[in-house]
Amino acid sequence: MKLLAIVGSPRLEGNTNYLVDQALGEAAKLGAQTEKLVLSQYEVNPCLGHEDCASFDSCQQKDDTGWILDRFCEADGVILATPVYWYNVSAQMKAFIDRNYVLYKHDRKSQARAVGIIVVAEMEGIEDTLHTLKQFIDWIFDVEEDRIFIACGYASQPGEAKNNLPLLEEVRKLGRQMVASLKEGS
Ligand SMILES: Cc1cc2nc3c(=O)[nH]c(=O)nc-3n(C[C@H](O)[C@H](O)[C@H](O)COP(=O)(O)O)c2cc1C
Repeated sequence: MKLLAIVGSPRLEGNTNYLVDQALGEAAKLGAQTEKLVLSQYEVNPCLGHEDCASFDSCQQKDDTGWILDRFCEADGVILATPVYWYNVSAQMKAFIDRNYVLYKHDRKSQARAVGIIVVAEMEGIEDTLHTLKQFIDWIFDVEEDRIFIACGYASQPGEAKNNLPLLEEVRKLGRQMVASLKEGS
């Protein structure tokens, strides 16, 4: 069982990365094969918007998005994790979401059977961020509502999430729930 986390925070020692590690750690304990891709570590350029994706077999931009999308489509479970930036997902996550347009234009979906969402904010904007991610999930995944697991909460400086015990428990639970859901569905 492969569980892939796509992380939109550029702070490697920041809250989102820490929380994702906690979720994946729990999932690994239960037997999942886990992988974390931090988008800022790769070249994931913004969409060029020519709206002509369907004319090509794959996106014509030669950056890392192609193989990341392949892995994203093949994973059994996917976690989308982002800090809130200006009441929404980070620019890295938005570029990744936009680049999924090539899948949409080819009627291709991620085969993941469970999806996790992890969102961290300093104080506000979680609702709008969840809305964006849920709309994206609706188009690009084929998952039932009860297989979408959400953990979100508040932290600001790097390391603060370590002290937010309810949030820590939420993300660990998300990891366990995703594995349970995938085992159930297999
Ligand atoms: C460019 C930028 C925009 C931000 N916008 C918001 C915001 O709209 N609402 C909020 O509550 N926090 C906002 N924050 C704070 C981050 O969401 C918060 O620090 C979070 O813990 C960062 O996660 P990270 O440690 O994983 O990078 C913003 C931070 C940055 C750098």
